[in-house]
Order: sequence, then C-alpha cells, then structure tokens
Amino acid sequence: MGLETKVVCVTGASGFIGSWLVMRLLEHGYNVRATVRDPDNMKKVKHLLDLPNAKTQLSLWKADLKEEGSFDDPIQGCTGVFHVATPMDFESKDPENEMIKPTTEGMLSIMKSCVKANVRRLVFTSSAGTVDVQPVQKPAYDESSWSDLDFVRSTKMTGWMYFVSKTLAEQAAWKFAEENNLDFISIIPTLVVGPFLMPSFPPSLITALSPITGNKAHYSIIRQGQFVHLDDLVMSHIFLYENPAAKGRYICSSHAENITGIAKLLKKKYPEYDIPTEFEGVDEKLEKVLFSSEKLTRIGFEFKYSLEDMFVGAVETCREKGLLPLSHEKKQQKQEEVINGEKLFPLSHENHRLKPQEAINGEKRFPLSQENYQLKHQEVINGVK
Ligand SMILES: NC(=O)c1ccc[n+]([C@@H]2O[C@H](COP(=O)([O-])OP(=O)(O)OC[C@H]3O[C@@H](n4cnc5c(N)ncnc54)[C@H](OP(=O)(O)O)[C@@H]3O)[C@@H](O)[C@H]2O)c1
Repeated sequence: MGLETKVVCVTGASGFIGSWLVMRLLEHGYNVRATVRDPDNMKKVKHLLDLPNAKTQLSLWKADLKEEGSFDDPIQGCTGVFHVATPMDFESKDPENEMIKPTTEGMLSIMKSCVKANVRRLVFTSSAGTVDVQPVQKPAYDESSWSDLDFVRSTKMTGWMYFVSKTLAEQAAWKFAEENNLDFISIIPTLVVGPFLMPSFPPSLITALSPITGNKAHYSIIRQGQFVHLDDLVMSHIFLYENPAAKGRYICSSHAENITGIAKLLKKKYPEYDIPTEFEGVDEKLEKVLFSSEKLTRIGFEFKYSLEDMFVGAVETCREKGLLPLSHEKKQQKQEEVINGEKLFPLSHENHRLKPQEAINGEKRFPLSQENYQLKHQEVINGVK
C-alpha cells in the first residue's frame, strides 16, 4: 500500500487491545486516529501519547458509541477502520440501553460513517461469545457457529448482555455490509492474554489470572478455555486489514487449555502464589474445546506465542504496574500494613475490594485517585470472553 492509504481509525484505542493495536500500527508506519470517550483524561490516554511515533502519527478524537454520527469526523479521510470499542458494564442495571443498544447501534453508526468516507475496509473485533454460548459445548468450533441467543437470554449467565450485544452487533454488521457493499472483516478472539500498555487491570486478565487472584466467579469461563496472545491478535488485525484476499469471519485463537492446565502452568512459574490445583467438576479427562484458526492460518497468518508467553507477559506487566502482589505472602503482609495504616498501596484489585469504604470516606488515602479506584472496581466485577 502507498503512503496515501495509511490513515486508519482505531475505536476504543485506550483499552487493552486498542492500545496495543495503536502501538503496532504506528510501528508499521500508519497515521492513526485513535477514538476515546474523553481525550482530556490523561489517566486513560497518556500510554497512547507516550508511544513511539505518537507525536507525528497519532491524533486523539472524541467519540461515543451512544451518539449517532459521533465517528463521522475521525473516520472521514481514513482508508481503514478498526472497530475495537465495546461497552463492558456487566453490572449495568439497564443492560439493554447501556450495553446492547450502544454496541449494535454504535456498530451501525460506524458503518454509516465508513460508507460516507468511502473507507476501503472495516475490521471489527468480535468475540468468541458470538460463537459458542450454547447449552452444550461442542468439541470444536469454526466460523460457521453462532451463539444461541434464546439460551443466553433465558439463562442470563454472567456476562449474558455482552454475548447478546456482540452477537447482535456482528449479525447486524453482516447485513449492513452486504446491503451497502462495504468491505467488512470480523475477527473472533478467544480470551486475550499477554503484556499490555493500559494502566489499569485489563478486563480479560481478571478471568485469565483468576487462579492467582482466587476470583472463583471467573473459573467457569476458563474451565474449558481458549486463548490468544495480545500481540498475535493485534498482528492478525493488521494482517487481515492488509490482505486483499481476506473475507468474512476469522477465529483468532492459538491454544485450548482447561483451567487445571492453566493453574499448573502458573504454579510452576510462580510458586510464590497460592494457586489451587483442583477445581470442582474438572478432572484430567475433561475434554478441551477447540476454536479452530485454520481459516486464518490458511491465508498465511502465523501465531508466534506460546501459552506460557501469554501468562508470563500478563503477570509480569501486572506486577510492574503494581496491579498484582509479588507473592501471596507479601500481599498478606502488606494488607496488614494497610490495615494498620502504616503504608497504603493498591497491591491488587482484591485490596481495592477490601478498602472501598475507607477510600470513599477519605479516611485513608490511596496513591491512586478515587476515580481510579472505581475504574478498577468496575473492571474487577467485569470479565471478558
Ligand atoms: N480482551 C479479550 O479477551 C477479548 C476477547 C474477545 C473479544 N474482545 C473484544 O475486544 C474489544 C476490546 O476489548 P478490550 O479487552 O480491549 O476491552 P477494554 O480494555 O475494556 O477496551 C474497550 C474500550 O471500549 C471503549 N468504550 C466503552 N464504551 C464505549 C462507548 N460507549 N463509546 C466509545 N467507546 C467505548 C473504552 O474506551 P474509553 O477509554 O473511551 O472509555 C475502552 O477502552 C471489545 O470489542 C471486546 O468485545 C476482547
């Protein structure tokens, strides 16, 4: 592609996947228009502005999926769009209006902006939640499968509104793309794990690192899990955007592993954490469920990372950013210090849960703001698939 074709828009640019994608696009010489809801919130955009080449190749744009036409300006003049943003408030009291409507209507609003701007290709980050949320798990899934929304709506399992929102948005997008002759690609990641740029605890790592944090509510999501490294996922976005032969849906998933396998891997690498080795209803004989990326590898994409790379990258980044304690022993010691008021530091989201009232009452100070606390607290509640 010539230089004149290298202006692209990334929605949800400050998030876990969006920020890594922006970094790789800048490295690849793209001019990136990054959309965020609040470009003035330095806590949410500093990691973007600090990226190599950001000064010359990156611009921040304000846009919200809840506002029709909000993406017109950033998309006008782009040859490509990566639609990554999605609302993720699993605790919403009004999921239809807070999650489902903005995801589907926001998708269509972005597609209309793409048509107006004569965009060459729109790449959508879909979700495994559009594929396998069904009463019984099959041994393997490919791109032909869709989640059963009657089952999802009647069961209302954790994150049900996310599965509904992503499925309806992707289905509406295929209809719109066909009717309007828009070049549209959807990428279906399984659980995304790896090192990251964003300053707070990424939603998907709440699930992936639950054997370390003991967040049992998330165990079921990785009982029979599938995983992809953040960098592999992001590189697949660029690969598919640039590949003229790309067409349709693409599963992007490199490994299938049950929760016992993940726990074993983490325990071996990090014996300093108390990681369970046995999980209710999971034994050695539990079959793995495969998400096939054959369609993606057939057109030439190569996965680079191992399961160990994903989890070590994620844990190390969390530790560097002070989002995970260095060990469970140290965490307990530090929690005591916190309780005694000798020293305050948010070692993990668990600590945040311990101390919200104090933070809110302003009796004791966190080094991070209350706003940050709320952000993390929300992310702890949420989980991603
Ligand atoms: N991580 C995974 O394991 C995984 C797996 C499968 C699929 N996915 C998909 O990957 C995408 C990104 O996920 P992620 O893990 O990077 O999550 P994330 O860190 O929460 O990023 C999502 C971004 O969406 C933006 N957003 C939320 N509501 C919005 C709204 N109303 N208008 C505009 N922007 C809004 C937020 O941006 P602001 O900063 O502007 O608030 C946030 O940065 C999502 O579409 C998700 O469905 C993720």
